[in-house]
Amino acid sequence: MTQHVARFQRSLLVGLVVIGLGLISSANAAERVEVSIDASKAGAKIDRNIFGQFAEHLGHGIDGGIWVGRDSTIPNTRGIRNDVVTALKALKVPNVRWPGGCFADEYHWRKGVGPQRAVSLNPNWGGVIEPNTFGTDEFMDFLGQIGSDAYISVNVGSGTPQEAAEWLEYMTTAQPTTLEKERAANGHPAPYNIAFLGIGNESWDCGGNMSPDYYVSQMKIYSRFVRNFNPAQQDKDQMQKIAVGPGGGEPRWTEWTETVMKAYQQHTWSWDINGLSMHSYTVGHWPPSYASSGFGETEYSQILKFTLEMDDLINKHSAIMDKYDPQKKVALMVDEWGAWYAPLPGSNPGFLVQQNSLRDAVLAALNLNIFARHADRVRGANIAQMINVLQAMIMTDKEKMLLTPTYYVFKMYTPFQDATFVPVTFNSGTYTHGGISLPRTDAIAAKGKDGKLWVAITNLDPNETVDVELNLVGTSAKAASGETLTAPKVDSINTFDAPNTVVPKPISAKAQGGKLTLKLEPKSVSVVSIEQ
Ligand code: AHR
Repeated sequence: MTQHVARFQRSLLVGLVVIGLGLISSANAAERVEVSIDASKAGAKIDRNIFGQFAEHLGHGIDGGIWVGRDSTIPNTRGIRNDVVTALKALKVPNVRWPGGCFADEYHWRKGVGPQRAVSLNPNWGGVIEPNTFGTDEFMDFLGQIGSDAYISVNVGSGTPQEAAEWLEYMTTAQPTTLEKERAANGHPAPYNIAFLGIGNESWDCGGNMSPDYYVSQMKIYSRFVRNFNPAQQDKDQMQKIAVGPGGGEPRWTEWTETVMKAYQQHTWSWDINGLSMHSYTVGHWPPSYASSGFGETEYSQILKFTLEMDDLINKHSAIMDKYDPQKKVALMVDEWGAWYAPLPGSNPGFLVQQNSLRDAVLAALNLNIFARHADRVRGANIAQMINVLQAMIMTDKEKMLLTPTYYVFKMYTPFQDATFVPVTFNSGTYTHGGISLPRTDAIAAKGKDGKLWVAITNLDPNETVDVELNLVGTSAKAASGETLTAPKVDSINTFDAPNTVVPKPISAKAQGGKLTLKLEPKSVSVVSIEQ
């Protein structure tokens, strides 16, 4: 209920923008926010899979970003860079979606296994050579090194059910079949675990331009025949099959969700799905034209306004899902999200290279908060993409590596993985710039697996400090400490020469009369644990 109050306040504020009442002066805005947390009203589990990553064969997302090859002078373990592995381990990455994206619907797995790799092309992303040196076994090795689960997208667009079924047999069977022996000969006698199986990618567009009905008939065939044979995944830890879902809120997307979910409602013993994918980028307008650095407050506030639309989109598609699946058995998996800006000048436009600024840190926190508030339905999300592509965690340049502002938000939010959502009420206040009004603050709280109470609070306002008064219902708060992420400018970035411009710093609260006061710097993301 209280959660709904906060959501209502937020929707109302964003709604004011839509109806053009952007005239609220900043003089009216609150610089003091009272946050009330009632830990006795715990909600859904915040699935750790909402912190998932996405690695596509695209630009230097894999080539150079993860894979440097065994003979590289860059320190590596079986060809996979050690610095990147160390950085990703700290994020506790729950799953990695691979090999695409659009690339997945043109991927033929056989080219990427064994001692001889076929050299092919990557027509989607710059038309470059795809050496296939990073294939199934290398991906699984990478996952083993970072301690993450596999989210495999199979080729529905240009492949066949048989090809996908054989790929799964190669990866998962423990029986001595020809494909099992081939996997063992390639160095992995034990079957692999596959947590998620994506049945195609954007089948309404780059995945084959299918109509909803045509896709549903394909989906049933793939769901039936693309089996996971791993003995450890037959009862517990069953592979979750994810159907292609919407890419926006317009009628063609609502029709898509309706068609897939209606089919699901009538599904028989012979096929099933466990999730519906949704893709939504913060882009403003297509083609992407916002600069990823060298921008000011106007572009900052515009992009944040666009990103908050994620909430409406989830509400819209969740409502359709509720009609056909009121028990919420099918998860909504936002398996591509993040900021998509204009390509960096001088970069290959097909490589989707962009900068990552403090704005992206704020944007990431707002989206993670939205997913957490929808924890009962949104049980997976994959930011696009993990390294060197779009809103990346990590950037590399040959032997150099840097961690982005978005990386630090994911690191600060790790206590929310599999934590229990706790409702928060707060008067968000309003931040107004150039006719755009946004909530000044945003907050979520959760009871972590470590037993602690965690709060994440974002101050969107790039000019005003916010004094937060934290109040626990039914008990008194004694202390709070954690980290805060901010920087001098909305477009501050980390570079290879100055990698510590946007890095978290300690933050603590003052206790008085059972309440805590916390100072939020302008344009900051903070995560604190509260002692009771
Ligand atoms: O993430 C880049 C691309 O965006 C993906 O390949 C595709 O699925 C989406 O359109």
